[in-house]
Amino acid sequence: MTGTRAEAVSPAIDVFPSSTIAPVSPNIFSGFLEHLGRCIYGGILPSTRTTFPYTPRKPCPEDQFTATPESLLTPEGFRADVLEVLRDELRVPLVRWPGGNFVSSYNWKDGINPKADRKRRPELAWGGEESNQFGTDEFVAWCRVAKIEPYIVFNMGTGTLEDALHWLEYCNGTGDTYYANLRRKNAGRDEPYGVKYWGLGNEVWGEWQVGQQTASAYATKARQWACAIRLVDPNIILVGCGETGINHWDGVVLDELVDKVEMHSIHLYTGFGPRDRSQTEREYGRTVYGPDAADYSIEVCKGLINKARFAKNVSKPIKIAFDEYGVWDETVGTPENGLEQFYNFADALAMASWLNVFVRHADVVDIACIAQSVNVISPLITSPTGLFRQTIYWPLYLFSRYMRDGVALNLSVASPTFSGETLPRWISIVKDLPNDLDASAVLYTDPDTKARSLRVAVVNRSETQSYDVPLRVAFETVGAEVEVYELWHADVKARNGWGNENEVSVKSKSEKWTSRWTFREHSFTMLVLSLV
Ligand code: AHR
Repeated sequence: MTGTRAEAVSPAIDVFPSSTIAPVSPNIFSGFLEHLGRCIYGGILPSTRTTFPYTPRKPCPEDQFTATPESLLTPEGFRADVLEVLRDELRVPLVRWPGGNFVSSYNWKDGINPKADRKRRPELAWGGEESNQFGTDEFVAWCRVAKIEPYIVFNMGTGTLEDALHWLEYCNGTGDTYYANLRRKNAGRDEPYGVKYWGLGNEVWGEWQVGQQTASAYATKARQWACAIRLVDPNIILVGCGETGINHWDGVVLDELVDKVEMHSIHLYTGFGPRDRSQTEREYGRTVYGPDAADYSIEVCKGLINKARFAKNVSKPIKIAFDEYGVWDETVGTPENGLEQFYNFADALAMASWLNVFVRHADVVDIACIAQSVNVISPLITSPTGLFRQTIYWPLYLFSRYMRDGVALNLSVASPTFSGETLPRWISIVKDLPNDLDASAVLYTDPDTKARSLRVAVVNRSETQSYDVPLRVAFETVGAEVEVYELWHADVKARNGWGNENEVSVKSKSEKWTSRWTFREHSFTMLVLSLV
């Protein structure tokens, strides 16, 4: 049983193609690489025995220390399979690096120069040791091959402003200066890396962060850093460090920084937090309805941004970089196993709801980075010789394919609601009960033919109830056929894994359009409708 209540609400979805929100930013399909578990070493580079102490949650087909054959590597030595999925299937536009908690004690200077000379260091955020075999040059080289925009986070824990200035000079310097010349020497080419996106620290508010600070201490420091950093390169996009968008921290930091940054970063994980393990029957609801918290975070954060802009008379828009989001049960993906979480079907529904949130808030969310891109709470799990796509891969794939180039639309959804517990729990304090039907829509115009189509993404989050839903498109005529992409499995706990890589995957079909659709219980459906 779930907490879903039968209510006297007739489900219905109305889409308003003439009522646009904003173009969907392609950067909502961004990723995140942290030096944690098997993300970098095992996901981006082939794994090496000594770089991490973690044991993957379930045995891979081979021993985790089996060598990855050279045939599976790019000429630069990166794992080709992971790179191809991120570049060609998920079309990830931007990746944040090197952390995460890791960055707050990371010395970027340890990660340049000949690999044999790089210093091994104790890794303070997650334990173990950092070999520094993947540093700035490797990250930028990987981004080039993957056609991905690099986004680097400064160390505002143990790092100094001088370190940050040197890092930026190393990446973007064009003059005859020491670090720009060192880059030229290491990269073997003259052109700067041109790293545009830079983050002012990671979760500096958290007690787990090396160098945790108070909101006002961080705000003062970040303002000083922002001013100085822009002297090295005035053209970068700076991202201030926020919390979840609704915290005291966010308000203080925005009030101080709003005229010095282009974006405010927020983080949230759903399915995360204390739970009563005896209430297993409610586990599904806790997972699937959680992303409604992100809706609220974004709404409040947008208000805080505008309040700060008003106070400082800042006319330029400040966007949200939701640069860590995802589904993470921290009792399953733990530091001991390198945060390797094996996702089930319910988690995939939560992922689809996350993406609905970003599309609905296209006016203010410019970046969203799934945490993380490979192995660590990720849609992709590797072995030394292969990978499989987790359940949460599929919503990402469908959204990236069908919602990416659209303009987000207003829509109205009537739906029964869910009254059970969610994770995070605070949603029930501040929000109305979550709807079973969770939806977003875009209008896509083909740049060549100008043909228009509507893409409507609907998660039916009820575990047991299918809904036959009128889907009305205001003031437009819809074509005779609908393309349908559906993610459904009889068992909400079904998983993909080694040997059953395709247990959960998308089914597609074309059908006659009848202005309504039956959304199966616990399903995610993407409908593509032509407008004539
Ligand atoms: O993504 C895992 C961790 O979650 C990151 O290192 C940190 O920023 C967040 O708390």
